[in-house]
Amino acid sequence: MFELETKYVDKFVGSERLSSFGKEVKKINRSLHDDCDDKNDYRGWINLPINISDSELDDIQKTASKIISDSDILVVIGIGGSYLGAAAAIEFLHSSHYNYLCKNTPKIFFVGNNMSESYISEILEMCGSKDVSINVISKSGGTIEPAVSFRIFKNFLEKKYGKDWARERIYCTTDNSRGLLLKIAQKERYKIFNIPKNIGGRYSVLTAVGLLPICVSGADIRKIVSGAKDAYLKYMNDDLSKNDCYKYAVLRNILYNDGKKIELFAGYEPRLAMLFEWCKQLFGESEGKEGKGIFPASVVYSRDLHSLGQFVQDGSKILFETVLKIRKSSTKLAIPYEDDDLDKLNYLCENSVQYINDVICEATLEAHSAGNVPNIVMSVDDFSEYNLGYLIYFFEKSCAVSSKLLGVNPFNQPGVEAYKSKMFEILKNQ
Ligand code: PA5
Repeated sequence: MFELETKYVDKFVGSERLSSFGKEVKKINRSLHDDCDDKNDYRGWINLPINISDSELDDIQKTASKIISDSDILVVIGIGGSYLGAAAAIEFLHSSHYNYLCKNTPKIFFVGNNMSESYISEILEMCGSKDVSINVISKSGGTIEPAVSFRIFKNFLEKKYGKDWARERIYCTTDNSRGLLLKIAQKERYKIFNIPKNIGGRYSVLTAVGLLPICVSGADIRKIVSGAKDAYLKYMNDDLSKNDCYKYAVLRNILYNDGKKIELFAGYEPRLAMLFEWCKQLFGESEGKEGKGIFPASVVYSRDLHSLGQFVQDGSKILFETVLKIRKSSTKLAIPYEDDDLDKLNYLCENSVQYINDVICEATLEAHSAGNVPNIVMSVDDFSEYNLGYLIYFFEKSCAVSSKLLGVNPFNQPGVEAYKSKMFEILKNQ
């Protein structure tokens, strides 16, 4: 079960300020939900948990089973919203070490999110003697980093298997109404998964964009959708006092207006690192525009208590933390007893490592709060598919509401075009 705890933020915000947003939130709720299945804007993700069809999930599962049965490696090609959700989910559901630990499912490598020659070459080398499939994901079908990577890996597969057999190993996820990737896929008769026109990249993890690679990792995608559906039902309520998703959005905005320009997503599990990368993209690309927006950053504690922790405790008071806690550990790791007790740790032997982690979390919340750093705390029981789906929907909706409170369009990213047009100017005039 998801919980939002406001104990470490209340003193910075106050309940009256929070509830004063009630009317605005109702208006925003209406503006998000009214006609949200309209094909001409980007709110298709709102009803996605109830709109996604059984046949689409079956199709994804069928393809995933084929990839599992005929591939040692799946190369997922995409950037931004076309890869972060799947990467976050696979780490959350399995481990940061998925590629070392997976036994009956393929290793999964992500390319197309950089143009590093050494990174791409290393993955090509690992693919060398293995059976490989490719899932190329691009909504526009024209983003240069994935497009170049796709050409390289398509070429690799065609050399390895021949054009006809390579075709059976290439899966394209794209908007089925436009774009260069669609043209290629149609000409070459690759299997195509559709990204609905009205769902933008960073809100697309619950479409085939995320679900196909996640399913290949062996996760149950129906449970993810069921978590998202419960969050969808829970956070339709336009009453701010009863809607934690909207409460979180309002709290962020109050803190922002009080000078907290940075949100630090914090966790005590390394497995949350990619989920925070996904959050950073979701919030950063949705809110950072028109000279406004909270800058999203992330830390994994305890590691970062011994680096950025100094700044958080003692540095400029420009940030607040959003802590995501996982309440239960799926394993038990005891601290061994030693007769000579040279390291003086025997007093901890009654406890598990998880207990120490929980104490560190509690102590850090107390210390940071005493150091005038507001902390919003959210928690779920475990790393289950259901909780992942729930969290994804929670963050997507709070991000849309938060952006609207800030007065910006949550669904565009005009700033990203600046580097692209300079890059094409240079590339095409060389
Ligand atoms: O959230 C977004 O819309 C972006 O981050 C896109 O996902 C990213 O730019 C990749 O675009 P595309 O899928 O068109 O290649």
